[in-house]
Amino acid sequence: MKHLIVVAHPSEESFTLALARAYAAELELLGHSTTIYDLYRMGFNPVLAAHELEPVRADNPVSGDVARAQEDIRDADVLTVIYPLWWLSMPAMMKGYVDRVFARGFAYESHGGIVHGLLSGKKSVLVTLSGAPLPVLVQTGNWNAVQVLQDTHILRSAGFELLEHLHFDEVVPHLAPAVADQHIAHVRACARKHFPAN
Ligand SMILES: Cc1cc2nc3c(=O)[nH]c(=O)nc-3n(C[C@H](O)[C@H](O)[C@H](O)COP(=O)(O)O)c2cc1C
Repeated sequence: MKHLIVVAHPSEESFTLALARAYAAELELLGHSTTIYDLYRMGFNPVLAAHELEPVRADNPVSGDVARAQEDIRDADVLTVIYPLWWLSMPAMMKGYVDRVFARGFAYESHGGIVHGLLSGKKSVLVTLSGAPLPVLVQTGNWNAVQVLQDTHILRSAGFELLEHLHFDEVVPHLAPAVADQHIAHVRACARKHFPAN
């Protein structure tokens, strides 16, 4: 299978990036092909321009970087999105990727306010990290907000089958090596569980 892995974290040494690399390495071991979109290192422009809200025409073509990103989604069987929760949401870099790439006519259509996803048939995996413990996020209702907005409103609305939302909580600076190893093993196991060897 073809996997597109989109990850957003400003630091190359972050645990977020380590999870993305381990997940991709496991998929490659299983015989899958992977493309990593490391949005910060690519210098992805997350700012949606006014002309991108206008209908696509000969004199208003889709921006080159968005067209390439959409082609890479079209080409993939599975989209995996990896980011830390910042203010319970995705980093602005990832939000800008979604705003620009998951455009009307590509990711969804809407009629009378009802959204219809256009990417059905594709699978997705969502991997998030938080500083807070998951039970605290659940207890405050924050976890429900995360699921409604990110799992349902974005991925499922666009038509993806969400196979798993894997969350790593209590990810703090200087994570104990044993905990880090456990998390890395967990993200590798997620790859094996959903995508057996080709
Ligand atoms: C700007 C910012 C906002 C954050 N907001 C939250 C938050 O709302 N809830 C939470 O549990 N953790 C929050 N965190 C903590 C991060 O989720 C946590 O540090 C990150 O998942 C650790 O991953 P990393 O080591 O790859 O950075 C925030 C961190 C930053 C930098």
